[in-house]
Amino acid sequence: MTRQIKIFDTTLRDGEQSPGCSMNVQEKIDVALRLERLGVDIIEAGFPASSPGDLESVKTIAGLIRNSTVAALCRTLEKDIDAGKEALVNAVSPRIHLFIATSPVHMEYKLKMTPEQVLEQTIASVKYARKFCEDVEFSAEDAFRSDPDFVCKVFGEAIAAGATTVNFPDTVGYALPPEFAERIRYIREHTPGIEKARLSVHCHNDLGLAVANSLAALGAGAEQLECTINGIGERAGNASLEELVMALRVRKDFWAINTNIDTTQIYATSRLVCQVTGVKVQPNKAIVGENAFAHEAGVHQHGVMANRETYEIMTPESIGIPQNRMVLGKHSGRHAFEERLKELGISLNEEQQSSVFAQFKLLADKKKVVSDRDIEALVMGVSASIPETWSLDHWLINSVAGLSSTATIRLRHKDGSLYEKAAVGNGPLDAAFKAVDMITGKEVGLELYELGAITGGKSAQGETMVKITKDGRRWNGRGVSTDIVESSVKAYVAAVNALEWETSAWGKITIQ
Ligand code: KIV
Ligand code: ZN
Repeated sequence: MTRQIKIFDTTLRDGEQSPGCSMNVQEKIDVALRLERLGVDIIEAGFPASSPGDLESVKTIAGLIRNSTVAALCRTLEKDIDAGKEALVNAVSPRIHLFIATSPVHMEYKLKMTPEQVLEQTIASVKYARKFCEDVEFSAEDAFRSDPDFVCKVFGEAIAAGATTVNFPDTVGYALPPEFAERIRYIREHTPGIEKARLSVHCHNDLGLAVANSLAALGAGAEQLECTINGIGERAGNASLEELVMALRVRKDFWAINTNIDTTQIYATSRLVCQVTGVKVQPNKAIVGENAFAHEAGVHQHGVMANRETYEIMTPESIGIPQNRMVLGKHSGRHAFEERLKELGISLNEEQQSSVFAQFKLLADKKKVVSDRDIEALVMGVSASIPETWSLDHWLINSVAGLSSTATIRLRHKDGSLYEKAAVGNGPLDAAFKAVDMITGKEVGLELYELGAITGGKSAQGETMVKITKDGRRWNGRGVSTDIVESSVKAYVAAVNALEWETSAWGKITIQ
C-alpha cells in the first residue's frame, strides 16, 4: 500500500539563519510563494520572537500563503508563543512549532535546566500554544544525543498536552543511518500515545548523512521530513528537499511513498534560492547541480544518445529543466517570451511582464542568444526587487594603472530628484561605492562582493551579489548588466535600497 508523507520546508528559518543565507522580506515572500507552488505541506516561515523583522515577515507570508500550512518557530516560552500567534494571525492553516533541548549537554550548559524543568516547560508551553492553535509541533532539540527514554517521556507528555506532531532532530548531524532508523523505531514503540501524533525527523548534514538519515527514518515509520531547498541550513546544512523527494520518486518501486511535491518545480525553486541568497550549489550537487544531467565522457554521451536510460535515472524534465526549446533572441516576440516564462514556472503580473519583456529586448540587442538564466536574472530584478529609494542614473569611472581610481555617480531618488557625487578610491569599485555612500548618507560595511557570469561566452551578463552591513544587520543586493562595473554599482544600490526599506517601511507591507 502507498503511504503519504508530509514535506516540511525550513528554508526560510533553518536555511535563512545560516551564515550568508539571509534574505530580505521581499525575497522571503518570493521563496514562500515558490514553495507553495512546489507543493510543500508546511512552510516554516521564521522565528517571530527572534526580531521584529522576522515577526513581520512571517506575518506577511502567513497572509499570502493559501495552500500550505505556515509554521512559526517558538521556544517553549509564553512570550515566544505570543509572537508566533501574532505572526500567524492571517494564516489559513497556522502551525506553532515549539522546541526545547533534551540532551544532557544542552540542558546543563545551554538551558541550565534540569530534565524535570524541561518536561514541565514542555507541557505548559504545548498547553498554552493549543489555546490559540490546533496544529502544534513539538521538537526535542538535539534529540539524537538525548536519552531515548527521556525523549519518549517528553514526547508522550507533549502529545498528552495536545501536540499534533513530534519532531526528532539530529541537531548536530551525528547519527548514522542504521542507528537513526533503530532510534526512530524505538521512539515509535516506546512513546505513549504516539499514534495520536505525526512523527517527524529533522536531520543536519555535518557528516554528509542528512538525506540518508531522513530516508532511514522513513523506513522506520517517520511520517514527516524536515528539509531545505539546496540543503542550506546551519553549518553543513539540512537534508536537501530535492534529494529526498527525488529519492522517493525515482525509487518509488522501493518506497511506495507519495509526497505532494510537484517535482517539475524543483529546478526553478532551487535557482530562486541561489539567486536570493547568493549561495550557489556546487556543480556536482545531486539533482540541481550544473553537472547533474551533463554527460562528458564520450562513452557516456554515446550511451545516452542511443538510449537515455544507459546513464540517466531521471529526466531533466522531471525536475523542470525543459529541453529542446526554441532559442530566444532579438527577433523573438512577446508571445514566445511569455511561453518561455510559463515553461520556467515564472508567473508575473501584466506590468512586471511588460517591464521584463522591455529589458529582454534591450538585452537581446546586445546578446545573440538570451538564455533561461538570463531571463531568470531579469525576472529577479523585477519580482524580487524592493521599492527603489535610489536608482542608478549615470556613472563614470576612471581607472588607470598606478593611480587612484575616481568615480562620478548620479543616483535618482524616488521623488525624482537627481544627486551626483564624485569620489576617489582604491580601485574603481571602492571609488564608486564611496560615491554612493556620499549620496545616500549611509555608512555601511561591505561584507561580501561576488561577481559571476550568468552564462558562458564573451557577451555574458555579469551578475554581482553584495552583502552590506550596518549595526550588526545585513542586506543583500544583486545587480545584472553586460557591464560588470554597472552590475556592481546596481547591486550596491539595491542593497542600500533593502536597508532603507527594511529600516523604515515595515508598515507599508500590505497583507492580502
Ligand atoms: O536542528 C534543530 O534541532 C532545529 C530545531 C529548532 C527543530 O532546527
Ligand atoms: Zn535545525
